[in-house]
Amino acid sequence: MSEKGLMAKYSLEIEETYRQRTRKSREVIASAAKYVPDGDYRVSIWFEPYPTVMARGDGCHLYDVDDNDYLDFSNNWTSMVLGNNHPKVVETIQQQAPMGSAMSAPHTSAYEWAKMICDRIPSVEKVRFCTSGTEAVMFAVRAARAFTGKDKILKMEGNYHGSYDPMEMTVGWRKLPVGLPKSVEEDVLVTPFNDKEAAERIITENKDELAAVIVEGILGAAGMIPPEDDYLKHLQDVAGQNDVLLIIDEVISFRLATGGAQDIFNVSPDLTVLGKTIGGGLPTGAFGGREDVMAVYSPRQKRPAHHAGTFVATPIAVMAGIASLKEMTAETLDRINRLGWSLAERLRGVLDDLKIKAQIKGYGSLQQIHFTPEPVTTASTAYFTMNRDVLRLFHLVMMNKGLFIGSRGFFSITTPMSEVEIDKAIEATGESLAELKPLIQEIAPQLIG
Ligand SMILES: Cc1ncc(COP(=O)(O)O)c(C=O)c1O
Repeated sequence: MSEKGLMAKYSLEIEETYRQRTRKSREVIASAAKYVPDGDYRVSIWFEPYPTVMARGDGCHLYDVDDNDYLDFSNNWTSMVLGNNHPKVVETIQQQAPMGSAMSAPHTSAYEWAKMICDRIPSVEKVRFCTSGTEAVMFAVRAARAFTGKDKILKMEGNYHGSYDPMEMTVGWRKLPVGLPKSVEEDVLVTPFNDKEAAERIITENKDELAAVIVEGILGAAGMIPPEDDYLKHLQDVAGQNDVLLIIDEVISFRLATGGAQDIFNVSPDLTVLGKTIGGGLPTGAFGGREDVMAVYSPRQKRPAHHAGTFVATPIAVMAGIASLKEMTAETLDRINRLGWSLAERLRGVLDDLKIKAQIKGYGSLQQIHFTPEPVTTASTAYFTMNRDVLRLFHLVMMNKGLFIGSRGFFSITTPMSEVEIDKAIEATGESLAELKPLIQEIAPQLIG
């Protein structure tokens, strides 16, 4: 059979199993399309032939509208580090709900939350809040521009920082993303992650116009790729020598240690961006850092930078965030990191046994499979050399086996998990890859050997 024919045969069979298991999901998405374009209201929940519609979550499980049970290794894109409906978070929300959900005045809980964040991250001397990671990035960038009086921002190729126009631009290797004004190209520079010389060159050459360098603690959505060879520290040094601020986006990486990835990789940025896990599952974000930089937002400045938001730090979200941070102790985070390292080692074992040359990249509780034989150190290696067909079918076969991993191939560990769930993930991965191996042999022979 031709490569194309074999691919069509596998797709058809795997999709048919998926369709049989998820009949109600298909109906929901089909009828939703009347009001929501194609039934999709958030790009990161969409996959073909149609996404699974979930009815509820419980701990590290999700249950779909057809009552299928999934082990949740995606956990709302790594954000639900305590799993679903953690009892302490639920209790806190229930206590706060009857006492008011939003008010146009400060609430004491926000100051308690601020103290907790500053206590955990030494580089964060002052912090402010918002309702998403995207907003937190936007306001951190604004702080850097206001403080330095410069406009340009340097970011890493492929590094995702949310949906703020200039940050979407920084995908770098693509054409201007649809819907963005051409003007964003003027203010954003892009460099490959983990390439010290390239970053140094671009920072020194542009230092008079460059306000900040923004980088994640580990590249999250771009492949769970950790910094190598003191890369972040190098960025800090070079940026500092050139009067450029360093912003570390810890929206994903904060869950790796109580002080985030900056603690692990021994770096002290001028500004830090937070989101996802700090809100206990409610929509929140935060940005903070050096006192003198954060002072640009001080209401007692002659001309403060503007930062507003109707639902910033509402008491229910803040209380959920506080409850969540209390549970994210060093011991708990270490335990799930150990589970992640164990998963990574055992995934490599599965690949070796099957003689498949994919890569496992990650740090602690965040691991990802990359269907490429190339070592993955930058987003471009991951993006350009991976086999997308294999990834798509692998994800779908895993769904058919009740393993809900990220559609990009990541496994995010949550606190309700133990070795039992790691065993299940290993078993499902082994079975899925064994099933796909004859196809991989034909369509991606470079992955075999
Ligand atoms: C590193 C990083 N920064 C920022 C964001 C944007 O956060 P949000 O989706 O809450 O706007 C994301 C989202 O995935 C992210 O991964």
